[in-house]
Amino acid sequence: MTDPIYVTDALIAEDIDAYLAGHEKKSLLRFITCGSVDDGKSTLIGRLLYDSKMIFEDQLAALEADSKRVGTQGQEIDFALLVDGLAAEREQGITIDVAYRFFTTEKRKFIVADTPGHEQYTRNMVTGASTADLAVILIDARKGVLTQTRRHSFLAHLIGIKHIVLAVNKMDLVGYDKAVFDRITLAYRAFASEIGITNFTAIPISGFKGDNITALSDNTPWFKGPALIEHLENVEVGSAADEAKPFRLPVQWVNRPNLDFRGFSGQLASGKVKPGDAVRILPSGKTTTVERIVTLDGDLGEAAAGQSVTLTLADEVDCSRGDVIAAADNPPEAADQFEATLVWMADEAMIAGRAYWLKLATQSVSATVQAPKYEINVNTLDHLAAKTLELNGIGVVELSTDKPITFEAYADNRTLGGFILIDKLTNATVAAGMLHFSLRRAQNVHWQATDIDRDMRANLKNQRPALLWFTGLSGSGKSTIANLVEKKLHRMNRHSFLLDGDNVRHGLNRDLGFTEADRIENIRRVGEVAKLMTDAGLIVITAFISPFKAERELVRGMLPEGEFLEIFIDTPIAEAEKRDVKGLYKKARAGQLKNFTGIDSPYEAPENPEIRIDTTAMTPQEAADLIIDRLLG
Ligand code: ADX
Repeated sequence: MTDPIYVTDALIAEDIDAYLAGHEKKSLLRFITCGSVDDGKSTLIGRLLYDSKMIFEDQLAALEADSKRVGTQGQEIDFALLVDGLAAEREQGITIDVAYRFFTTEKRKFIVADTPGHEQYTRNMVTGASTADLAVILIDARKGVLTQTRRHSFLAHLIGIKHIVLAVNKMDLVGYDKAVFDRITLAYRAFASEIGITNFTAIPISGFKGDNITALSDNTPWFKGPALIEHLENVEVGSAADEAKPFRLPVQWVNRPNLDFRGFSGQLASGKVKPGDAVRILPSGKTTTVERIVTLDGDLGEAAAGQSVTLTLADEVDCSRGDVIAAADNPPEAADQFEATLVWMADEAMIAGRAYWLKLATQSVSATVQAPKYEINVNTLDHLAAKTLELNGIGVVELSTDKPITFEAYADNRTLGGFILIDKLTNATVAAGMLHFSLRRAQNVHWQATDIDRDMRANLKNQRPALLWFTGLSGSGKSTIANLVEKKLHRMNRHSFLLDGDNVRHGLNRDLGFTEADRIENIRRVGEVAKLMTDAGLIVITAFISPFKAERELVRGMLPEGEFLEIFIDTPIAEAEKRDVKGLYKKARAGQLKNFTGIDSPYEAPENPEIRIDTTAMTPQEAADLIIDRLLG
């Protein structure tokens, strides 16, 4: 969200083109301010906007009037009012947003992400920080390094921000005392090195009085600089460092306007490229050379990190959205199991074993997250045992993806190491993640190709494999109908296997109960077993409540198109409860059985099952005939 703060640069009125052209040449620094209102954060941002003259004159007039109204102590303008006034409007409606403000100086353009400082806003800070080059960590000189200072620094470092500014604010209130500044800097250095921050720039300031903001202040003759804005103007921004890294271009889309042209478009995540360079397409590993670098303004002789280009390649190699074009002799790794840090950003807690969409650069895959190895207490940095991650929780997890992804460690490459997780049903972003490394167990275990394949096995049996996936409440009739279906198939000389919930839970899955996580694992294992059995050429029938859509879809995705038939045994709960074949509903109602489906554990009915059986309208025999018809007909 950009707030309506505009520029009063005379040039705009006179010659907008010249103005914009001038701005285009300036580099852009994205930074984040960390601290709370008490630390003087709003005052500092207001001061930066004011000193760089990024405020409309009428806004200024309103501000002065407001300041007079609230009687700011002898100061003409309360800068905090400006920023907080805007923030108040914003926060009435939404609390998750990060406010982005734009300002510019002669030398550089700036976007500052202003995120709330409290712990419950961790996700906002992560959002704001994800694109930032620099973080200003604000400290109140009277208070020194606080818990929140540690939290903000940890998050900024976690998110990969390379430049840290320690702004020791309110120096006016400690008499511009050098000893106070030195003490705070020393304390911060000790903590910073503990979490891996090797370098930071400490600046004594007063946002309120303006000391060391635009120019060095006479009040701190002992401070040799730089002033805050000067530092922000001169700090080296991302691209130079990124250019030195090996070349990577995540392919955003394939540009094929006609049969003669095939180009691969995207933004260079790192490195440089020129025509003639040998490149490798990941994950396939095919190599070729770059032919042309095409842009809207004509062909380029070279492109570098941050630029958006279209490459044409010398050979007709397979390459599509999500692939990465990389330096042939220094390609990134592809893997499907990882260790990563996750910041959980959804109100609903993480569910171990559930499949989420994982988006990394232009790649999109399905990923399952294991229960955290540990959670990190952001205040003390202690490692805690945890089964899940709640909103704002940060933990280290292992995750696996259904397809290999091309990646680099987040510490080396934010574009190819940073990802988000998306809930498959609601489409909400639930987590931000940072990849550490691929797991060795994935690296050294390769898929072993066998000579007899699934088609050959099925052909021998004279049938096409299929998975008949029954789902429905306990007592809905799944097992009864599934059993009849298998009997009929057997009579027709079809090779089948029936996996039944109650039976599998006596053996393979006897370690699992009925919590959400256990049910997810139950279905995952049954899905894997059923898939192996279809590979053997069998018609597999499963009868599990399988209450969650996400896991049913996970299993569907394991099989070739058309082989998974979801069969919804649709019996209303009142009817199932009336039948109560096993007496379990009675127990559940009496409170003797916890997490019972339909009572205190949810059932997500299929929306578009291949087959729906209304057991109040047909007999089990009729249902079985209908299913056989659909399968073989
Ligand atoms: S699932 O939810 O994980 O798919 P599954 O089909 O394996 O469940 O097992 C369900 C069977 O376990 C039921 O038919 C019932 O006989 C028994 N059961 C025991 N406790 C529960 C419970 N809390 N909720 C549902 N079924 C239960």
